[in-house]
Amino acid sequence: MAIYLDTGNLSEIEKYHKMGIIRGVTTNPTILLKEGVTGGMEGIRELTQQIAEMITPLPLSVEVTSNDKNEMLEQSEKFCEWADNINVKITIHGPQGEMFNMEVIHELEKQKDIRVNVTAMMSAQQCFLAAMAGATWVSIFGGRVNNMGYNSCVEITRLRKLLDQFELPAQIIVGSTREILNVTEWLEAGAHIVTVSPDLIKGMIVHPYTKETVQMFLRDAEKGKELSK
Ligand code: E4P
Repeated sequence: MAIYLDTGNLSEIEKYHKMGIIRGVTTNPTILLKEGVTGGMEGIRELTQQIAEMITPLPLSVEVTSNDKNEMLEQSEKFCEWADNINVKITIHGPQGEMFNMEVIHELEKQKDIRVNVTAMMSAQQCFLAAMAGATWVSIFGGRVNNMGYNSCVEITRLRKLLDQFELPAQIIVGSTREILNVTEWLEAGAHIVTVSPDLIKGMIVHPYTKETVQMFLRDAEKGKELSK
């Protein structure tokens, strides 16, 4: 599993997909808005179908845009008709702590055979219960956890232990990545997947000292060519 790309930008997805280093893509309404997605469902369909086609069979998470129970169910079914590799992102609860989201998650996974990525979670406890409800992926927002003064690595390790102990098949996605270091520290802590923005992936690959070293190799190769003339 390891790395998912957390973006809706087609050219960035194409770039990193071609390198063979990503295993899926995650989006949310904020990410899609940043890519200029307007026009409600039609706008979301247009972009997410293109992403899904580009990365198939890798999974793509698309988040529902309502916290109304029926609308969440309807949108989830619609998303899955758009492409086989689309799964549905549902927040663990509503904006005022409404808990029926858990029922929706359970119904989608167990009755409608739709894969759910439960999102916007900040603790091992939330993720554990989402996994109990049947979620395929449980997304904890590591950067936001750290911003609140808690240690995201501790939550991830605790969560992984619980999932393993109770043989729950949910995969841990850690999102809200803020630093390059987060990627390896979260994977080491027990995450199955870290979802990373394109700029951070670039930072994982390109190193200033590697640049300098490659420049030296190329310079000396040229010198060698000159000397052999
Ligand atoms: C994860 O799936 C989310 O899309 C994302 O990582 C949220 O991160 P943020 O805290 O930068 O909004």
